[in-house]
Amino acid sequence: MALGSPVINVMVAAARKAARGLVRDFGEVEQLQVSIKGPADFVSAADIKADRTLKAELSRARPGYGLLFEESGAAEGTDKRHRWIVDPLDGTMNFLHGIPHFAISIGLERDGEIVAGVVYEPTRDELYWAEKGVGAFLNDRRLRVSARRQISEAVIATGLRPSDRDKPSRMSLMAAVTANVAGVRRFGAAALDLAYVAAGRLDGFWEFGLSPWDIAAGMLLVREAGGYVSDLSGGQSMMTSGDILAANDHLHLPLAALVREARRAGGDA
Ligand code: IPD
Ligand code: CA
Ligand code: CA
Repeated sequence: MALGSPVINVMVAAARKAARGLVRDFGEVEQLQVSIKGPADFVSAADIKADRTLKAELSRARPGYGLLFEESGAAEGTDKRHRWIVDPLDGTMNFLHGIPHFAISIGLERDGEIVAGVVYEPTRDELYWAEKGVGAFLNDRRLRVSARRQISEAVIATGLRPSDRDKPSRMSLMAAVTANVAGVRRFGAAALDLAYVAAGRLDGFWEFGLSPWDIAAGMLLVREAGGYVSDLSGGQSMMTSGDILAANDHLHLPLAALVREARRAGGDA
């Protein structure tokens, strides 16, 4: 791996440790699909175990930092400047169905700004990490967002919360974007969608109503790979609104315009 700062090393070590437990549980979830207990409990146990491991590791290395963990909640630290923002398992639905596309996401906030991020995809052993001002990396390779300029040639990912499934406007928005780009993908792990934008695999990503732990690390990955991240109206409210649109500099405006226009047309603006 390329050399990160001590704090990146702390984040990577915590992610790798929690990932070992997830991979073990994932191996069993594939066999447990039809167990009486049902995999939902199992997955939530996997979530909670990973959450606990990450909390223990990160708090041991940086005892005073505040915490915002998806499963164990928020806690103020004695160090008011720093906060860990953690999703112990992003892509739960995939995990539950035996689909090997899920990740651990760890963001570090300093004075309200994300300054370090790690997204680790254990089944492919792909470790994405970024530090503000240092760059974004996949293992030891420097990342750069895609150079594509034509929206019609772009592959764009999105996500849909279960609560949005029955909103016709969300479906028509997806249909409208699909009609104007090369392809729309729905992979089911927002942290990885952002990591893939940073890696230039995807040309863009948008989603509504995400949580801070879904996007904290991924946002920094995209920015440090030279991409642009905003909310749906071009502002910077992503961490509070949960609305996010990420792409390279050429495609960000056209994609934002496409999504906005399609929302308006579908009565969802
Ligand atoms: C979910 C995933 C999914 C996104 C959902 C998230 P979880 O996180 O990131 O891609 O569409 O909105 O809640 O529940 O798997 O941690
Ligand atoms: Ca998540
Ligand atoms: Ca999660």
